[in-house]
Amino acid sequence: MVKVFGIAGSPRKNGNTDMLLAEFMRGAASRGAEVKTVFLRDLQFSTCQHCDACLKAGICKIKDDMQMIYKDLEEADIMVLASPVQFMGVTAPMKAMIDRCQALWARKYVLKTPPLGDTRPRKGFLISVGGRKITNLFEPIQAMIKTFFVILNIKYYGDLLFREVDARGAIAQHPTALRQAFEAGQKIVDDLKQEMEIAKTAG
Ligand SMILES: Cc1cc2nc3c(=O)[nH]c(=O)nc-3n(C[C@H](O)[C@H](O)[C@H](O)COP(=O)(O)O)c2cc1C
Repeated sequence: MVKVFGIAGSPRKNGNTDMLLAEFMRGAASRGAEVKTVFLRDLQFSTCQHCDACLKAGICKIKDDMQMIYKDLEEADIMVLASPVQFMGVTAPMKAMIDRCQALWARKYVLKTPPLGDTRPRKGFLISVGGRKITNLFEPIQAMIKTFFVILNIKYYGDLLFREVDARGAIAQHPTALRQAFEAGQKIVDDLKQEMEIAKTAG
């Protein structure tokens, strides 16, 4: 079964990115995927201390809620990162989660092992929302998340990005956003399943 792991980075419960992520996961589940969402605001974890302990075995020595995230990342076939724009970047908890994946960077670039433990094809998706209108609003976040996925050997499948959405729940007033999220969740699962089928047939 295809496993979809969603990481919600907003501090705001039931806010715009939460709503989009929920629809994406509903779409994925409707195609038979097993879905799991974590809300970073509910977890306790430290920022990366750059202690370099992970360079020895690719394991972070800080024993906090990130240990659960490492496991979920390893098990997932599809990862979805959802964060509002904050000062042109992702939220602080999302950035902290990404930085703690230095341990996975170490597995790949120092220890020359698969960052997520095996080499099966994985797909990644980005969801973001910002209050402002500016055209380059999502460029820094896209650059960061694309890099994150490259390091983890996850193929960047696509994104849903909505500007000029500010008040909590305002995304529900958007004519297509929630439907787009639902359909993106369906499509990514369909596409991965199809790829898996082709790979199986090819032997
Ligand atoms: C600390 C903070 C920083 C923000 N910085 C930006 C920003 O740089 N650009 C922008 O367009 N919106 C910015 N916003 C607005 C949020 O991106 C916007 O309200 C978004 O809809 C929140 O999504 P959420 O409901 O999922 O939390 C900021 C909001 C906060 C609280």
